Amino acid sequence: VEQKEQEWLGTPIKELRRMPQCGQSLPHLRATDNHKVLIRTDLLKEGQVPLPYPSKYRDSWDDMTVKMPCSDKNLFPVENEDGSVVQSRWDLIRSALEGECKSSLDIKDAILSYNTAKRWDFTALNYLCTEGMENEEVQHLFNVTLPKMMKLVLNTPKICTQPIPLLKTRMNQSLTMSQEQIACLLANAFFCTFPRRNSRRSEYGNYPEINFYRLFEGSSSRKIEKLKTLLCYFRRVTESSKSGPSFLKCSKKQLTRLHITYKGTIEDDGYGMLQVDFANRLVGGGLTGMGLVQEEIRFLINPELIISRLFTEALDSDECLIITGTEQYSEYSGYAESFKWKANHKDEIPRDGWERRCTEIVAVDALKYRNFMEQFQPEKMIRELNKAYCGFMRPAVNPENLSAVATGNWGCGAFGGDTRLKALLQLMAASEAGRDVAYFTFGDEELMRDVNALYKFLKDKCVTVGTLYFYLKQYSNVVSKHFKRPNISLYGYIYDKVNTNTDPEPSPSDSNLT
Ligand code: AR6
Repeated sequence: VEQKEQEWLGTPIKELRRMPQCGQSLPHLRATDNHKVLIRTDLLKEGQVPLPYPSKYRDSWDDMTVKMPCSDKNLFPVENEDGSVVQSRWDLIRSALEGECKSSLDIKDAILSYNTAKRWDFTALNYLCTEGMENEEVQHLFNVTLPKMMKLVLNTPKICTQPIPLLKTRMNQSLTMSQEQIACLLANAFFCTFPRRNSRRSEYGNYPEINFYRLFEGSSSRKIEKLKTLLCYFRRVTESSKSGPSFLKCSKKQLTRLHITYKGTIEDDGYGMLQVDFANRLVGGGLTGMGLVQEEIRFLINPELIISRLFTEALDSDECLIITGTEQYSEYSGYAESFKWKANHKDEIPRDGWERRCTEIVAVDALKYRNFMEQFQPEKMIRELNKAYCGFMRPAVNPENLSAVATGNWGCGAFGGDTRLKALLQLMAASEAGRDVAYFTFGDEELMRDVNALYKFLKDKCVTVGTLYFYLKQYSNVVSKHFKRPNISLYGYIYDKVNTNTDPEPSPSDSNLT
């Protein structure tokens, strides 16, 4: 038998130690003098984007830290009638990147509006965006990826809040940051925003180049392939942040139970349930002003709610405020224009072990829509689903101990949302959280019948939350080109899809939207 040529020599590779098998378990992640940590270490959770630490941007402009594009000290010389003056370079960056980028020329114009080096050449970038990619890829780049990258740059002071130490010669220093923070910094490098990094003669003469302008120059195919590779990265990192909570896509949860009625209100008939406050991101909304709809009324009849305004900062898109134990003191009649104080109310809700009224209210703020179709954009639907889920989920509590959610036309009054869409989104979020729903349509009989019919149909067909999410995104794809109401209604579309679909569990990867 002919001996096979030796492919390796020495110790078999199998015997060499590899991580993670050979490693020790890591100590708790903690910042020290020589280990700067740019994220919150107390909230690290698998599958979640780490939060920046501290929460507010802290600037520094010295020789120990990276000079940031968003620093107040980042100045740019401009010519005006009085000769040469300096202007905030971050303002220039913002106005360039708040605009639209529809071609490689726009990218070039943006970059050159806040960089003095007018001799930069963008041949490689230009070629890539015209002949170097399939038309579809170019479309995706300009419609989806670049806008997200620009947003990352614009959000720099929110994402990279802590000064980044320079790892200087002879210095022993560690640095931990999140993939999101790195994506943000790389987007800045792509748009060449880092100050004082374009010249070898600056204080960074002994540091590598970071702004990407040289990647854009020349016509070598190497540059084209390098750019393609980096754009693949940007495509991926900007996708993951908009793809929504992973629970949605692959959720196998069935819909929980629904009670729906056009009679009654959340506060009267939802006692003992988790009662939804159709909130403003500033809780209490127009309480002290002219506002007099669901949230303001609730704050008026249960005035202890008002004190949340003393200490609650604006709610972020993945936050809610839960208030337990407030008492109802008044009864009212009417609504908005016709609202009237009616009578004293004797609250007979029992108290819990901490002597609080068993009244749990959750403030969740929907998005305000000016244009009806806007709410069918995938990002918007994901935002609302996630917001509702934040309000409803109680990961530490056994589902059997969770009350139902008492809700209704959340976001569909002052905020202009569509009741049918919002009912479905809330039902999905509640199902995911393992809670039943009591839905008050506030007088709308037709809505009660429509939602109930769809609900019964979906239950019959055992449609899961994940599958519904998939149909929602498909619908959004179908109607996203309309500015007016589309010919096909959301529910009509779902009936159709469920009836014609032979595969009961479409794979989320079938969707070309995430
Ligand atoms: N029980 C059940 N449903 C109700 C009740 C109730 N007590 N009251 C109203 N509805 P809206 P939004 C129904 O406009 O659109 C405030 O200023 C009724 O069908 O209060 O989320 C906040 O501070 C109504 O049209 O909520 C925010 O700034 C629908 O719920 C903003 O309004 C929506 O009520 C939020 O607006």
